[in-house]
Amino acid sequence: MKLINDLKWRYATKQFDKTKKIPDEEMKKLMEVVRLSPSSYGLQLYKVLIIEDSEIREKLKAASWNQNQITDSSALIVFCNYKDVNESHIDDFIRLKCETENQDFNKLKGYSDFMKSKVSGMTKPEKDNWTKRQTYIALGFLLTACAELKIDACPMEGFEKNKYDEILRLSEQNLSASVIASIGYRSQSDNLQFLPKVRKSIDELFETVETIRHKSVA
Ligand SMILES: Cc1cc2nc3c(=O)[nH]c(=O)nc-3n(C[C@H](O)[C@H](O)[C@H](O)COP(=O)(O)O)c2cc1C
Repeated sequence: MKLINDLKWRYATKQFDKTKKIPDEEMKKLMEVVRLSPSSYGLQLYKVLIIEDSEIREKLKAASWNQNQITDSSALIVFCNYKDVNESHIDDFIRLKCETENQDFNKLKGYSDFMKSKVSGMTKPEKDNWTKRQTYIALGFLLTACAELKIDACPMEGFEKNKYDEILRLSEQNLSASVIASIGYRSQSDNLQFLPKVRKSIDELFETVETIRHKSVA
């Protein structure tokens, strides 16, 4: 399986080659992959910022434990989730679904009401947590696509979300930075690329219902 070799090739890149830029056609492919990523109900309750500007990235680096990946990569991707979810998000989705599938708006009323009732049953922190989780799926797809295209990436949670929200003026748009990724090309001096993958064995990671039950009885 080619994907397994791609996943063995990738690693969380710490040192990027500052001189290498990801070509526009490759960036477009990555954007299309993120666009096609699945999300709960298909609502895509997030925005994805692509930041190439070096001045902004310098500011963000200071809010990211001074990690060099922020400024040295070709681009910084900031996944931002909608903190609050309201009926208009669902109406927008239903409108898009009707247009795309050539469906009658009224036929989707039941589905729309169902989603609205689920969302209105959540507290604000629950909504924030729910939409944040969706961004990690998109991040996973981005990392996998990067591996296939032989583009290096470093996913990161090591940053101060409040400062990102302030620098990028996200709060005023009901958005919050949830997870980020630097993408570009590895520097040959990054020794981490030569290390083997540290992963649990298949036996340790996977269980069957029988073995789980056996362990809980023992
Ligand atoms: C959600 C998430 C957050 C991470 N945060 C950071 C980070 O802030 N800085 C960093 O250098 N690596 C970060 N990593 C990279 C992990 O340390 C790395 O993926 C893990 O050690 C496995 O190694 P590999 O990706 O090289 O196979 C993060 C990874 C994930 C998935």
